[in-house]
Amino acid sequence: MVKVRVGFIGLFGIANHHLREVKATPELELGAVCDINETLASSWSEDQQVPWYRNYQDLVESKDCDFVIVSAPHYLHCDIACAAMEAGKPVIIQKPMCLTVAEADRIIATAKRTGVKVGTYHTAHTSEWDAITMVRSGQLGHIMRFSFDIHAARGMSYYNSGPWRGKWATEGSGALSNQRIHDINRMQSLNGAVAEVVSCTLANMGHPGTEVEDACAATLRFENGSFGLFHTSLYTALPLSRYEIVGNEGCIVVNDQERKWGKLAFPMRDYLLQPKAARKPGATLEDAPRPGLTWEPLPAVEQPMETTRWFALSVAEDKPIQAPPEFALRDIEVWNAMILSHFRNKPVKLPVDRGEYDELFEELKAGKHDLHWPAPWLA
Ligand SMILES: NC(=O)c1ccc[n+]([C@@H]2O[C@H](COP(=O)([O-])OP(=O)(O)OC[C@H]3O[C@@H](n4cnc5c(N)ncnc54)[C@H](O)[C@@H]3O)[C@@H](O)[C@H]2O)c1
Repeated sequence: MVKVRVGFIGLFGIANHHLREVKATPELELGAVCDINETLASSWSEDQQVPWYRNYQDLVESKDCDFVIVSAPHYLHCDIACAAMEAGKPVIIQKPMCLTVAEADRIIATAKRTGVKVGTYHTAHTSEWDAITMVRSGQLGHIMRFSFDIHAARGMSYYNSGPWRGKWATEGSGALSNQRIHDINRMQSLNGAVAEVVSCTLANMGHPGTEVEDACAATLRFENGSFGLFHTSLYTALPLSRYEIVGNEGCIVVNDQERKWGKLAFPMRDYLLQPKAARKPGATLEDAPRPGLTWEPLPAVEQPMETTRWFALSVAEDKPIQAPPEFALRDIEVWNAMILSHFRNKPVKLPVDRGEYDELFEELKAGKHDLHWPAPWLA
C-alpha cells in the first residue's frame, strides 16, 4: 500500500481535524509540523513524534514529507502555497484558497510553471453529490432560478479567537471569505458559473469591533441563463441553510430537514407560452392550468473520496486532483465580485477586473470604507 507523508503548516484549529483524517486513513502518515507558535509546534512534535519547524520555508524544503496542507490564516495561503511549489512540494490549500483573484492567478501560474500539484479544499460540493447528479441527469430541464438562503450566528468571541479574524488585510473579508465560500462553491457546482453579480449589499450588523461584512444579499445571473439570489447573515438567531433550484421540468429543494426533488407534470415553458387559457365566465386568468409537481427524496448516490486522501493518492499515483486551483478561482471570482459590486455600486461581470479589485482592496485595508449600520439592538 502507498504511504504518503504529509506536513502541516498552521496547527491550532482545523489541523486537529486533519490529524484525525491522517489517523483514519491507512495511506497517510504525519511527516512534520510547522507553526510560528513554537510552544504549539513543539508540543505537536512531542505528541506525534515528528520534526517541527517554525518557518514554513524550512518545512517545504525538508525531506520529511511528500506534500503539505496549508491551514494557516487565509492571508498566508498564497505565499505559502507558492513557496511550496517553488520547492517542488505538492500542496493542498485550505479554503479560501487566497484573498483575491490576482492571488489566485499567481497560484495557477506558479503551478503551471513549476509543474507541481496544487489542490484546494473548495470541496463543499461533495456534500451535494445527490443534487449535482440530479441536475446533471437533465431531469430538471433548463435551470431557470437558483436561490440560496444561509444564515447562522458568530459572536465576538469567535472574532476575538485569532488576531487575523475580522480584518480586511488578513481575512480578506468576513462571512463571504470564511463561511460562505463553501456555499458559493456548492452553488456554482450545482448551477454552473456565475456570469454577473447584478447588485449586492454588504453590511456589518452584529460585530462592532470588526471591519468586515457579516451580511450580504446579492442577485446573480448565471452562465446557463438562470437568475439567482444569494442571501446570508452571520448575526441572526434563526439558523437556516436552504437552496432551491428551479428548472423548466423539475425542481430541487434542500434544507436542514429535507433533500427532495419534484418532477413537473409538463414543462413550465408550455404554461408560460400558452397563448390563451380556457376561461369560464366569471373565472380569472389564473385558471390556466399550471404543471403540478410530484415530490420525492433525492436518490442517494455514492459519496466521492474524502479530499485529503484524494489529494495524497493523486500525488502518489499521479491522478487528477479533486478541486484544482482553477475550480477555487471560480468561487473567489464570485466573492470578490460581490464586494466590488457593493463598494463601487454597480453590476460586476465576471471575470473580475484584477486591477480594479486590487485598488479597492487597498482602500479597504486602509480603512477607507465603513460597513457598520446603525444597529439599535447592539446599544
Ligand atoms: N474547510 C473547513 O471547513 C475549514 C474549517 C476551519 C478552518 N479552515 C481554514 O483553515 C485556516 C486556518 O483556520 P483555523 O481556524 O485553524 O485558524 P487558527 O487561527 O485556529 O489557526 C491558525 C494557525 O496558524 C498558525 N500560523 C500563523 N502564521 C503562521 C505562519 N506564518 N506559519 C505557520 N503557521 C502559522 C497560527 O499560529 C495558528 O496556530 C483558515 O484559512 C480557515 O479558513 C477551513
